[in-house]
Amino acid sequence: MQNAKTKSATPTAGVPSPAVPRHVAIIMDGNGRWAKKRGQPRLAGHRAGADALRRALRACRNHGVEYLTVYAFSTENWVRPKLEVTGLMRLLKTFLKKDEHELHENGVRLRVTGRIGDLPPAVRAELERVMEATKDHTRGQLILALSYGGRAEIADAARSLAADAAAGRLDPAAIDEAAVASRLYLPDVPDPDLLIRTSGECRLSNFLLWEASYSEFVFTEVLWPDFGEDDFAAALAEYARRQRRFGAPS
Ligand code: IPE
Ligand code: IPE
Ligand code: MG
Repeated sequence: MQNAKTKSATPTAGVPSPAVPRHVAIIMDGNGRWAKKRGQPRLAGHRAGADALRRALRACRNHGVEYLTVYAFSTENWVRPKLEVTGLMRLLKTFLKKDEHELHENGVRLRVTGRIGDLPPAVRAELERVMEATKDHTRGQLILALSYGGRAEIADAARSLAADAAAGRLDPAAIDEAAVASRLYLPDVPDPDLLIRTSGECRLSNFLLWEASYSEFVFTEVLWPDFGEDDFAAALAEYARRQRRFGAPS
């Protein structure tokens, strides 16, 4: 980990941002409300949400977005009713089984960010199998945030740095932004350029606290299961209109 490639904390100021984001992160929210509107159980909303994820992945391919990170389950979501949690875990396993071939066909590598050890062993095993099977794909990355919390990620990074410092392997004075970034869950992944949240909520809910420090945010009223390729294109168009400054003068 210590030698892992570190990402620069802030991109070079003044450099115009490419029109297409390299990394899009999505807070896929609104599955429950979508189901409620139809008088269906929440799990039906989550199932429809999985289809929306398939569409988003296809949209990334069509637009040339290299990394897609999706918030699928937060560290806080464990408080949900057991039936919903087990249903979501089952859905995740089904998604991996059904869509693995798509990942191979399109050269997409699957990765996970979060405390993967919290997941049920069978889900974890399936994730690890698909991650291993896709690890050499280089055309894109699908990153599932599972049992993910931004604060947990930063706390885990701090603990890892502290352990090295206590063992005399690391000088505390040498701990800078790059050192912290190097201990995050996926240190080689560039920070998200664009962060989308569906369902009208305008908050981060503990998603990518460190990585999103200079992301462009797009909030939409559309509920996640209704989010289609045109909504994705609209978010990209909004992103292309933004001027990113990274602290430099306008
Ligand atoms: C997002 O949809 C999916 C997860 C958090 C797993 P929600 O389940 O939060 O849907 P709402 O917000 O209740 O509508
Ligand atoms: C955030 O949505 C987590 C995911 C989308 C997985 P939540 O629905 O859990 O967020 P809050 O509770 O409304 O902030
Ligand atoms: Mg929600």
